[in-house]
Amino acid sequence: MGNFVSASELKTQNEYIKKTAALIGGRGKRAFVFTLGCQQNEADSEKIVGMLTQMGYTMTDNEEIADVLIVNTCAIREHAEKRALSIVGRFKHYKAKNPDVIIGVCGCMTAQEHRREHFKRSYHYVNFTFGTGALHRLPEFIYNALMGGKRYFDKDAQTPEIAEGIEITRASTYRAWVSIMYGCNNFCTYCIVPYVRGRERSRKMEDVIAEVKDLVKRGYREITLLGQNVNSYGKDLPEKTSISELLHEISKIEGDFWLHLMTSHPKDASSEMIEAIKDSPRTSGHFHLPLQSGSDEILTKMNRHYDLEKYLGIINKLRKDNENITLTTDIIVGFPGESDEDFEKTLDVIKKVRYDSVFSFIYSPRKGTPAASMENQIPEEIKHTRYDEFCRVQNDISKEINESLIGKTVRVLVDGKSKSNEQVYTSRTQGNKIVHFECDKDLTGNFINVKITRADTFNLFGEII
Ligand code: SAH
Ligand code: SF4
Ligand code: F3S
Repeated sequence: MGNFVSASELKTQNEYIKKTAALIGGRGKRAFVFTLGCQQNEADSEKIVGMLTQMGYTMTDNEEIADVLIVNTCAIREHAEKRALSIVGRFKHYKAKNPDVIIGVCGCMTAQEHRREHFKRSYHYVNFTFGTGALHRLPEFIYNALMGGKRYFDKDAQTPEIAEGIEITRASTYRAWVSIMYGCNNFCTYCIVPYVRGRERSRKMEDVIAEVKDLVKRGYREITLLGQNVNSYGKDLPEKTSISELLHEISKIEGDFWLHLMTSHPKDASSEMIEAIKDSPRTSGHFHLPLQSGSDEILTKMNRHYDLEKYLGIINKLRKDNENITLTTDIIVGFPGESDEDFEKTLDVIKKVRYDSVFSFIYSPRKGTPAASMENQIPEEIKHTRYDEFCRVQNDISKEINESLIGKTVRVLVDGKSKSNEQVYTSRTQGNKIVHFECDKDLTGNFINVKITRADTFNLFGEII
């Protein structure tokens, strides 16, 4: 099958790992990895750290003392790209002090030719760049740089393949990402992802199940199944399967853990999938369903393939006999051609659905996407005014919903001591609401029950039961 990186290629990379470890192992070499973007990038970075560790590097949070510096970039909005440029920019200084420092830039941004060219021409101290499809080749890139090889700018593969078996060093011992598929076929007109992560490809069900089982065995309490549109999981596999089947198989695994899907596309949200979500207390407490806009006209221009009626139908199904579910969504404000009426329609949906929280974004034109060259781009000032109004409306709703939890008991997964107060612990509910409580025992990584005593827009406060 063409979908998977061959065993011989993986063996070659393993040889590079061994050769690098023989060269630098035990010599106190350090690596620093900076991650921008979504959970998929977080998951990719855990593989980067896994491979670097195998190669003999020790991880450091201090970029100034690192021998290898990697920036895993995001291209979703201009702001993310600007941040990456500024981070890579300050690395110049480290290379000037120590010419042996190896600097690599990877991720979605470097899968774009114009960005690759920019790093090549304007950032002379960058050793290599590679896109997400070449992640498994990091050992080769590092080894070549160590040996004084030429600067290298990997051209993104047209049809990237899945690499199984890469070492993962997870950032948490109780919350884990599990990629179930890569890429995206949907080409929403505003979005860069299909251009930088290639077409959809699913991991084999047996590989996903084995990873989930292993995590549960090791005591992981929250597992998030990742994909740009997990609802189309399995459609590309020779033995056709589906997200509902995958959920069904996972439901057979014994253990106490929460399971999330990130992200579902409303156009492919089947009744079976929704029933599977509602069927298990592991999944029934939270669902993230990106809406993007409340106007059918804008949804069509976005190429989303659903209308408001269909979307609200899914929300109703999710809530039926399951009214306590936490619902979250993504909204884009200021898409080209968005009129005041279109924007009002989005506000109306927000008020009607009453999401617990919303990830809202100001539309950012992405080079090469259809929306970037659409007429009627919305002036920055109007985008910002609408965005501010949107946040005001949603913040009031989030606060009201949070306040309605006062007096109730919620189950949370403890994250550790709060940064600002040593006595206070921070935790999150199944629906990702932040809950603070006082405690004299460290319960990090455990489920506990907390009675809510106070609430504001973004936080809940309570007493441990
Ligand atoms: N695959 C996921 C989304 C991944 S990107 C899905 O379809 O739901 C996360 C969010 O970023 C999107 O849901 C969208 O709201 C936002 N986004 C994507 N492209 C954007 C752009 N060009 N400008 C602003 N926000 C954007
Ligand atoms: Fe982007 Fe749409 Fe794919 Fe999500 S489904 S990654 S928004 S193209
Ligand atoms: Fe960014 Fe790539 Fe994720 S563009 S949002 S890191 S898929």
